[in-house]
Amino acid sequence: MSELPKLVILVSGSGSNLQAIMDASAAGDLEASIGLVISNRPGVKALQRAEQAHIPQLCIPHQDYPDRESFEAALIGSIDTIQPKAVILAGFDRLLSPTFIRHYPQQIINIHPALLPAFPGMHGVKQALDYGAKVTGVTVHFVDEGMDTGPIILQTSLPIEEQATEAQLLERVHALEHRIFPAAIQLMVTGRLQIDGRRVHIL
Ligand code: GAR
Repeated sequence: MSELPKLVILVSGSGSNLQAIMDASAAGDLEASIGLVISNRPGVKALQRAEQAHIPQLCIPHQDYPDRESFEAALIGSIDTIQPKAVILAGFDRLLSPTFIRHYPQQIINIHPALLPAFPGMHGVKQALDYGAKVTGVTVHFVDEGMDTGPIILQTSLPIEEQATEAQLLERVHALEHRIFPAAIQLMVTGRLQIDGRRVHIL
């Protein structure tokens, strides 16, 4: 049997999406293995989850580096030891430079908790609620040099109920994320995505 393509997953927090990806891989629903999990924040739950699953993990704290360039050089140095098919941003909270992005052409995938191009940035769920949107959702996209602007792989929507609190909406958004993120990664690692300008064709 040929070796599965490898993923490197970058995290910063709870790692519930990391968990969903690990679970999909363990269940055979995702034909990829997780070669390395890297957090830019020490002590986060995502690192504990990786440890529990016996997946190699590393903390590269961005504060330990004088600038973005040196932080990203450290990231690239570690990622490249794995030679991954894809670099997955699962709640990673640092903006990546064009140099980093060009190092992994069409290989970086991000999940965002809103229907892009609506509500980009760090607080997609709260923004949708505060704006009074009636519908929101989840977007999985390739990463380009803008913030949350890359070609869209999958999107799923959900209605925002009249009385919904932020916590309730967050929970529903997360449940959607945990479904579509592994599915989008599976499409990528099995070669079923073709980028054509802004459009991503699913073959
Ligand atoms: C997820 O909801 C993800 O969509 C969001 O961070 C959360 C991480 O949760 N990402 C962004 O807002 C990116 N702009 P997790 O650590 O439990 O996977």
